[in-house]
Amino acid sequence: MLKLPGLIDPHVHVREPGQIHKEDWDTATQAALAGGFTMILAMPNTKPPIFDNSTFDAAISAAREKAHCDYAQFVGAGPDNAEIAPSLAHKAAGLKMYLDSTFGELRLDDMTLWMPHFEKYPKQYPIVVHAESRSMAAAILFAAIYDRPIHIAHVSLKEEILLIKAAKERGIKVTCEVCPHHLFLSEGGIPLSPTPSSLQGIREKGKGGRSEVRPRLAAQEDVDALWQNLDVIDCFATDHAPHTLEEKDSETPPPGFPGLETALPLLLTAVDDGRLTVDDIVQKMYTNPRKIFHLPDQPETWIEVDENAEYEIKAENQFTRCGWTPFEGWKVKGRVIRVVLRGRDAFKDGKVLAEKGFGKNVRE
Ligand code: NCD
Ligand code: ZN
Repeated sequence: MLKLPGLIDPHVHVREPGQIHKEDWDTATQAALAGGFTMILAMPNTKPPIFDNSTFDAAISAAREKAHCDYAQFVGAGPDNAEIAPSLAHKAAGLKMYLDSTFGELRLDDMTLWMPHFEKYPKQYPIVVHAESRSMAAAILFAAIYDRPIHIAHVSLKEEILLIKAAKERGIKVTCEVCPHHLFLSEGGIPLSPTPSSLQGIREKGKGGRSEVRPRLAAQEDVDALWQNLDVIDCFATDHAPHTLEEKDSETPPPGFPGLETALPLLLTAVDDGRLTVDDIVQKMYTNPRKIFHLPDQPETWIEVDENAEYEIKAENQFTRCGWTPFEGWKVKGRVIRVVLRGRDAFKDGKVLAEKGFGKNVRE
């Protein structure tokens, strides 16, 4: 039995308020506990997005009522909330800026819209950027110009990880996260097994269908570069982005994969394969996210994992409401057996024991 600290996922789409047919604070935080996470940071691209006092309060009151694990909520950077966002900083996980194509309404195309946020958001709180490729380079330049820390979400490309490495070497305050799906899947797409009858004959590709995700699944060379630069990766984050199977199999599939319940088993399987160490997991899923986001200690909190349990990932065993996983049928090694959160058994032997509302806002 392996005992690890309660894991922290700095990138979760809870979908509440507004899209609770995909997920809500109840199911997302149950999925988190089942995946070994005792704390999640919730993204602001809900409906409506979280960008001012009233939308922030709406998310927090749903969380207070329903969360089974601990949490904090991001505030989103919009075109005209650069004055308001800093007033929420002390209560928020951080500021999330969408600088590239994404799901939802929060997107800042014009760099003049980035400037007031970089100027005004308090420097002691992190700015997380969804910025790919050249926009990522621009975001790093902003971090250097405004001399403030930024955290790059879901890095997926070789050029990105190499530039982050170079920026770190020059003392620019940049950290980054990589998602399991960008480590374990490439543009070849999701191997569908078994193929549902509705999709028979259609081989899933890196673009379209269930494989739609932002950033897109990348080339094998990019995947290899991420594995070769593990020391540059500060955090593993799931970017848990649940959409229902019906939505994913529609004509216009929204981008995103669920990830809370598959991240740790996949990474532990990589440990078993000798590609990663348990120390890497602790550093990137506990120590570093805590440091980067200034998250408090969760006393008497740990998880117990059976490193030798071998099994197949199955959507039917998941707590997420979305009803599918891109890793259906994958054989993994490593199962979360028990989660103790603040002295209480929160998850044990496949059952969530922490009740709704047990989760605490770590910024309160
Ligand atoms: C995210 C979502 O569905 O909210 N989708 C995704 O593909 N990652 C949006 C995002 O993180 O950009
Ligand atoms: Zn995301």
